[in-house]
Amino acid sequence: MIIGFGTVGKGFFDLFHEKRAVVQSLGSVEISEIASSRLGYELRPAHDTAERVDKGGKLREEAKDIPETIRRSDADIVCEFTTVNMNNGEPAFSHIRAALESGKHVITTNKGPIALRYRELQSLVAKKGVLLKFKGTVMAGTPSYNILDLLPGLEVKMVRGILNGTSNFILSEVERGRSFEESLVHAQRLGYAEADPTMDIDGYDAALKAIIISNVLGWQDERHSLGGMEISGIRNISPAAGEKTKLLASINEKSASVKSTKLQDGDLLSNVDGVLNALELETDTLGRITSIGPGAGRKQTAQAALTDLVSIVGPLPNNR
Ligand code: HSE
Repeated sequence: MIIGFGTVGKGFFDLFHEKRAVVQSLGSVEISEIASSRLGYELRPAHDTAERVDKGGKLREEAKDIPETIRRSDADIVCEFTTVNMNNGEPAFSHIRAALESGKHVITTNKGPIALRYRELQSLVAKKGVLLKFKGTVMAGTPSYNILDLLPGLEVKMVRGILNGTSNFILSEVERGRSFEESLVHAQRLGYAEADPTMDIDGYDAALKAIIISNVLGWQDERHSLGGMEISGIRNISPAAGEKTKLLASINEKSASVKSTKLQDGDLLSNVDGVLNALELETDTLGRITSIGPGAGRKQTAQAALTDLVSIVGPLPNNR
């Protein structure tokens, strides 16, 4: 069941059908229904539903009460793709809670509930014996904290990340001589920016992602919260020619921050441009590991949800 049918919901719907052969090798998996507060509701959606909505169409039925619809549904997995609310994570939190309480697994790309209400959700997950997957909240489909699944026993000492595609894209465009405003409009057109792009520009989107990484690493305290960490964005930044400034998240057990940072020549992260994101982990067994790839976009975020789907329903034969 898909909840929320904007950029990510439609992207996932299309990718699911495009990668049908992969998905079906896992067994019989279907998208049984779509619910959106804005676009309505549709049971057993046809393959061209995302295309229809892209052209301005709506879902076939009137919108329903979403938590109630989730509780009554016989879907096994709820995919929550609504937009972020960084005050309290709603309405996504209520959607996810309704799904977990009724014994359904959840995939979400929504940073609000995972950054702000992780403990409540994890205690429900433990109580109900279901899975909550949220790869798309950090670096879209590009491997990020989930590479830890491949590295048993590895201990992370420190994390640095370029975690917001929109601001990295804007910084790169500004370096090339475009104006800030023009670059932001471009990022919005490409589907990178949040519904409220000030979240991207003022560092809050990257901060939510830093909190999610901290949650995964078990660093869950006031110093890793929106109120307890230093957060600044990229307004009023005008990098001098040849200078590399990035909106950098820095996280360790004792603190977290997101701020514009001038990087040294030779720093691998200084070459991460455009919508690319990067996550650098300082570890005990492997030293430094860095993952670089797209951190936003329709198909790129859909890949994350597909990865989560396979991690619930899989594994794939031959590791594919
Ligand atoms: N607005 C976000 C970004 C989308 O630009 O990185 C992905 O979380």
